[in-house]
Amino acid sequence: MKMRTLGRSGIQIAPLVLGGNVFGWTADEKTSFAVLDSFAESGFNAVDTADVYSAWAEGNQGGESETILGKWRKARGNRNRMVVITKVGSDMGAGRKGLGAPYIEKAVEASLRRLGVEQIDLYLSHWPDPATPYEETLGAYQRLLQKGKVRAVGASNLDAAQLREALEVARAKNLPRYDVLQPEYNLYDRAGFEGALRDVCVAEEIGVITYFGLAKGFLSGKYRKKADLAQSPRGEDIGDYMNPRGTRILEALDQVAKRHNAKPAEVALAWVMAQPGVTAPIASATSVEQVQSLVRAAGLNLPAADLALLSQTGP
Ligand SMILES: NC(=O)c1ccc[n+]([C@@H]2O[C@H](COP(=O)([O-])OP(=O)(O)OC[C@H]3O[C@@H](n4cnc5c(N)ncnc54)[C@H](OP(=O)(O)O)[C@@H]3O)[C@@H](O)[C@H]2O)c1
Repeated sequence: MKMRTLGRSGIQIAPLVLGGNVFGWTADEKTSFAVLDSFAESGFNAVDTADVYSAWAEGNQGGESETILGKWRKARGNRNRMVVITKVGSDMGAGRKGLGAPYIEKAVEASLRRLGVEQIDLYLSHWPDPATPYEETLGAYQRLLQKGKVRAVGASNLDAAQLREALEVARAKNLPRYDVLQPEYNLYDRAGFEGALRDVCVAEEIGVITYFGLAKGFLSGKYRKKADLAQSPRGEDIGDYMNPRGTRILEALDQVAKRHNAKPAEVALAWVMAQPGVTAPIASATSVEQVQSLVRAAGLNLPAADLALLSQTGP
């Protein structure tokens, strides 16, 4: 597996990160273990989760994904091999949210406990928190870095202006900077990353791991008509992609997939992997079969003509 360098974080990752928001939601513990086993055995080395995953599933309260990941690491004894990425700041209920320093200091302990590790490899601010100055958040991260509780820090869901401001504060106040960004990006959702945000990331050597690599499953091509939405609990979120543009994208994916004897999901992820500024896409899987599709995606080198055909579907 050819590893990629995640910005200036010092972390090396395989070209695809496993998404952990399904653990405890659409993948129970047994299925999550099988997915993680298959992913690790295939030579991949990074998993993305968050303290809040998967609070939205019935009966959950948040922390389920980190707990499953921690149990898996313990059961498999591979604590040091898998790069663990987790996030803080989403609403966990009872006032537990945001990027204030006292909250981050408590939240990191809860994540470390659930994950069963002494250090989180990459700790991300999940969402911008307009109520907290960057200086306060970055100051909290500086203390976590000094204590060895986290190895690197980054942010998710910042736009170009917010990222620029955060970098500027880090420089001016001599604080650690966000070395990694996690934006939404896939063949359907392109406008948020392409342009100013990507330019900042490239210029500042920021590692970029993109989420919703498969547009929640839409880009696998398994949702073509309204009746298909019943296939997964995620179906209700996918209707928004069912429009003439979504159809054009699926047609382009079908065309390229056929040429390479691949599945549309594999082509969709290979396209993200080939985009400038992207270190690796994140995608989740709810079965070993889906993991194997992710593995094939990482081995699919699309020629320039195919990449152009896909890109021509427009941002
Ligand atoms: N930073 C943030 O704010 C943020 C937000 C969202 C997500 N994320 C991260 O990004 C990760 C990826 O997002 P996501 O999991 O929501 O969406 P995604 O990766 O775009 O879609 C993954 C889903 O597509 C389906 N799928 C996967 N492989 C497939 C295949 N080969 N054929 C058919 N269907 C397939 C599976 O769902 P079914 O089997 O249920 O259909 C799977 O759970 C998350 O797990 C999380 O770690 C971050």
